[in-house]
Parts: sequence; structure tokens; C-alpha cells
Amino acid sequence: MKFGSIDIDRPIVLAPMEDVTDTAFRLICKRLGADMVYTEFTSCEALIRDIPRALKKIKITEEERPIGIQIFGGVDASMEEAAKRIEEFGPDFIDINCGCWVKNHVARGEGAALLKDLPNFERVVQSVVKATRLPVTVKTRLGWDAQSIVILDVARMVEQAGAKALTVHCRTRSQAHRGEADWGWLEKIKKVISIPLIGNGDINSPEDVKRMFETGCDGVMIGRGAIHNPWLFQQTKHFLKTGTLLPPPTLKEKIALCIEHLTMAVELKGQRDGVLPFRKHYVGYLKGVPHVAHLRSDLMRLTDSRQIIDRFQEFLEEKTLF
Ligand SMILES: Cc1cc2nc3c(=O)[nH]c(=O)nc-3n(C[C@H](O)[C@H](O)[C@H](O)COP(=O)(O)O)c2cc1C
Repeated sequence: MKFGSIDIDRPIVLAPMEDVTDTAFRLICKRLGADMVYTEFTSCEALIRDIPRALKKIKITEEERPIGIQIFGGVDASMEEAAKRIEEFGPDFIDINCGCWVKNHVARGEGAALLKDLPNFERVVQSVVKATRLPVTVKTRLGWDAQSIVILDVARMVEQAGAKALTVHCRTRSQAHRGEADWGWLEKIKKVISIPLIGNGDINSPEDVKRMFETGCDGVMIGRGAIHNPWLFQQTKHFLKTGTLLPPPTLKEKIALCIEHLTMAVELKGQRDGVLPFRKHYVGYLKGVPHVAHLRSDLMRLTDSRQIIDRFQEFLEEKTLF
């Protein structure tokens, strides 16, 4: 897959996920084999008003490259201004979110609302492309609902508007995250564009990645599957190379990586902002580990990372005694 300075054969990329793909998780996934990462989506209106929380979200580190900063907005002039601001943060590309299903965003004409107003969708993409020398990419869905699948028109339009790659979450807005992603569209989209296509939706195993590449898409993006199993990138790379599956990580490896991830999150964001959003990661690190009910309820209660680490050590000691 080639665009801008990016040239990666069959990249497996970490999806942008609000309150999940912060610097700490991006670095963990990179280390485990993710080829490309994105920031959480950030409001263009917040960026142009210099809202500190928004500016923090788009801070990136060299180790994360190649990385895209993802923005959202429904007003072309604001998107243009935000794109100009972003250049100083030095990402490898800017991605436009045109798929967020959440009611408040849609009500403001942002995210998936653009799928109901293709002329505005086009203006938004054109305005960002015009504003920056960075490559611009688009992430969207199949359409608003099953009765209005517009992805083929959207794909042609975003290429025409100057986007350098397209990511498609193979669901409609009305599906949100429910139902099955329909990968059947990827082959059709591939036929109408010449820019790289990244497929997304329901990737949970190395075999899923292989099957999605068979649709002809150039890259595969993993969202929730990476929360449930950050090792998925490494496991997939191994599977694509050798056709065999790596053994799952041991309990010791799971807990060691969880502690390292938590420690990094706290170093970067402080105790409160590091620990509370981290709770959604325990399920991934403890997946497949038996007898974790007590441990899990303690982890959901504790708010200090030192206590959490002690609790993990205690659990590990208990497990190795038996
Ligand atoms: C917690 C969460 C937060 C998300 N935040 C974003 C976001 O900031 N930007 C975006 O484009 N998509 C976001 N998404 C959608 C994912 O990027 C992805 O398209 C979706 O989860 C489908 O992929 P999956 O089936 O591999 O999870 C989010 C999804 C989840 C579960």
C-alpha cells in the first residue's frame, strides 16, 4: 500500500478508537506488529479553538510512525482551518472521520451524517485536501442504512476530491457496531477506485485478516479485536508468513504486558486519566485466564496504579502456587 511517504506491503493497521487508541495503546500495538496507527478522532472545532484536551489527543511520538491524526467535522471552513493547524503536529497523514454513528455527532452534521449529504461530504474532503501538503485519507461506512448504500459513489468521489486512501467500515450507520460487517462490498469498491483501500469490520483472528485480504483490499484495519487481543497483530503476521498459528501468550506474559501498558498510560496521562479509561483493557489481557472474577472486580474498583500492579502480582503468585 503506497501513499505519501507510506509504502507498506499488506499493512495491518490499528483502528482509531476514542478513549482507547491513546499513545500508550498505540505504542503497545506497534510493538506487537501494527503497521500503521491513528489518533482518536478529534473535533476540528475544538482544535481551532485550542481546547487543551483536543490538542493533547493529537500529540504524537516518533516511535508511532507512520501515524495519522484523525479529525471530524461537518463544516468545510472549520475542517480547512483544523487541517492547517495539524501540520505543526507532524503526522504522516490526516484522516477524516466520515463514519461516526453517535447521535450527538450526527445531529451536528459530522461523522456518518456526511453519508446523507454527499455534496457536503465532498466539500469537507476537498477543503482538507486544499489546506494541507500532507496526504489526506477518509474513513467511512457503506451508507446511512441498508436502503441507502452509497459507498461506490462515495469511493469515486473521495478519490476525485484528492484523498490518497479510503478506509471502509463495512457496516451502515444504522448498524452502529451491531450485526455482521459485509465484506462483500470491498471487492466492488476496489473496482471503482485506484487509491488504496483499507477494509475494516469484525476482524478477530489471523484467519479473518487473511480472508479480508482475499477480497483484494490493500490494508486491513483492526478495531475491537485489538482491544480483546493486542497480540493479534503479531499472531497475524506470523500466520500470513508461515500458515501456522502462534501459541497464545502465557499468563505471565499477559500480566507483564498489561502492567507495562498501564504504567505507560499513567506516565503519559497521570493516575486518574491513566487508570480509569484503562479498565476497558483488562478484558483483553485477562481473556482466557480462568478464575478471574475476584481479580476483575478488584481491578474495576482500584484507582491507583500501584495498588493495581500489587493486585496483579498477588494473583500471579496465587496462580503459580497451585
Ligand atoms: C470504543 C470505540 C471507539 C471508536 N472510536 C472511533 C474513532 O475515534 N474514530 C473512528 O473512525 N472510528 C472509531 N471507532 C470505530 C472503529 O474504528 C472501527 O471502525 C469499528 O470498531 C469497526 O471495526 P472492528 O469491528 O474491528 O471493531 C470506534 C470504535 C470503538 C469500539
